[in-house]
Amino acid sequence: MVLALKEPEWWKKSVVYQIYPKSFQDSNGDGIGDINGIIGHLDYLEKLGVDVIWLNPMYVSPQIDNGYDIANYRAIDPIFGTMEDFDRLLQAAHQHHLKIILDLVVNHTSDQHPWFKAAEDKNDPHHDYYIWKDGKKGKTPNNWGSYFGGSAWTYNENLAQYYLHLFAKQQPDLNWKNPRVREEVYDLMKFWLDKGIDGFRMDVINLISKRSYKDGPQNGDEKYGSSQPETANGPRIHEFLHEMNQEVLSKYDIMTVGEMPHTNPEEAVRYTQPASEELNMIFQFEHMGLDTENYGKFTPKRFKLDDLKRVLSRWQTELSAKGGWNSLYWSNHDQPRPTTRFGNDKQYRIESAKMLGTLLHMMQGTPYVFEGEEIGMTNARFNSIDEYQDLETLNGYRELIEVQKQTPEQALAGIYAKSRDNARTPMPWNGEDKGGFTTGTPWLKLNPNFKEINVHDTLKDPNSVFYYYQQLIEMRHNLAVITDGIYELNDDNPEMFNFIRENKRQKLIVQCSFANHEISYRSSQLRANDKLILSNYETNKENIFNPYEARVYVQNKVKNVIII
Ligand code: NOJ
Repeated sequence: MVLALKEPEWWKKSVVYQIYPKSFQDSNGDGIGDINGIIGHLDYLEKLGVDVIWLNPMYVSPQIDNGYDIANYRAIDPIFGTMEDFDRLLQAAHQHHLKIILDLVVNHTSDQHPWFKAAEDKNDPHHDYYIWKDGKKGKTPNNWGSYFGGSAWTYNENLAQYYLHLFAKQQPDLNWKNPRVREEVYDLMKFWLDKGIDGFRMDVINLISKRSYKDGPQNGDEKYGSSQPETANGPRIHEFLHEMNQEVLSKYDIMTVGEMPHTNPEEAVRYTQPASEELNMIFQFEHMGLDTENYGKFTPKRFKLDDLKRVLSRWQTELSAKGGWNSLYWSNHDQPRPTTRFGNDKQYRIESAKMLGTLLHMMQGTPYVFEGEEIGMTNARFNSIDEYQDLETLNGYRELIEVQKQTPEQALAGIYAKSRDNARTPMPWNGEDKGGFTTGTPWLKLNPNFKEINVHDTLKDPNSVFYYYQQLIEMRHNLAVITDGIYELNDDNPEMFNFIRENKRQKLIVQCSFANHEISYRSSQLRANDKLILSNYETNKENIFNPYEARVYVQNKVKNVIII
């Protein structure tokens, strides 16, 4: 008998593919993606070479925030299928050598969850599962605004008190100070882990420990203050996560990633270093904040390359120096498409998609690929706001018009740049009617360019983004230096993002141009025998970089190393 060796930190060598189930593949013609649709594409994911699938929430939900408002944590919403379908998916994924991690959304529930319904009775034990406060002089308990616009407090007439919801009013925040809440959460986690899932992505998990309920900072023209200083990384957060680790996580061979807005590298080290016994990695937001300004998120502003270099390099060096671990991502279901945001989605769509892939996948950490990124999808531009579905987008648009007094054209420019629906348009599997996503009416329109950008055509083209991503993923599996090498920025050209990765045996020299034009460049790092192992152009000129060109060279430091 051959015993399979268990690799303790398998997630350090893994690549995660994120599926937004609602938009992946509809199998029953109702216009909404579902579990059976996912099962039908496991071959595609195995071909890409990823190791893990992260599924956005599929639990029973009124779908006010597309499943991030959960009414039953232990059941599958009928729009996605049944628990039997889920069990089949898990089994089939494992047969395809794919692990599955689920979204754990426990900062808040839906207001339709039985706990919240019971909470309206002050004498019911569930009352204290949520956060209730008295008003102040006939107003809300403090000035906090919700992440989705409006106040973070909603008044309950019967109780004559307000409840807290950092997101929509249908998403009341749980009271993590109550030990019974924590026990309930640990129990539901075990329910899924005992089925054999391989881990969790934890939704805004650093907001579960509230500091105090003081007013937040508020700029002159803003209607609400920010809750962030009082809610992010609060006083008991490490205690809660450590307890969760001891009660649940440490008992399973799984991976965990915590979504953590407003978190810096020092804090991230504490969350992710093994000695803390908390989480394996976190999603940080610093590079996602480089193109916000006056109108917050919905500002159509371009990032600056210098900022991107500074931010990503700081995360690379600080986490590695202090034993933390990075997660690496360009996008997800909340962010615009990277080719549009950081590349050039017109003239150099394919080149820039590959360049961005190179940059991210050569860094240290666990990379996440969001569905459609592997075919170089772009932001969607719908003609009218009525074609958008996302609640944050619709609230944001209203605020831009009513409060900021923008014209519809100005407001739409912000929506085109940042709407979450950019990422959520259904997967275009082919260029035919409805992109092969559904036979019915898709819940959200497809990206209007699906006839040009779709999986079918991408797979036919050996030079496509898909096959390039396949190479990137294979390199991570084969080259230890990508996992364990030190990172050093080589800041020698203002239009390029260049760095090295180095361990005892090898050095990788990574060169990525962000220029829309040719530039002359030769790295002082290069030696005569260095081998070019990857590039997004078929031919490379000696000292000239093409627009958005990326190259990776390998330098061997010891003899007889076999390189791919
Ligand atoms: C972060 C999730 O990624 C987002 O989609 C959701 O709306 C909020 N958390 C609230 O759960």
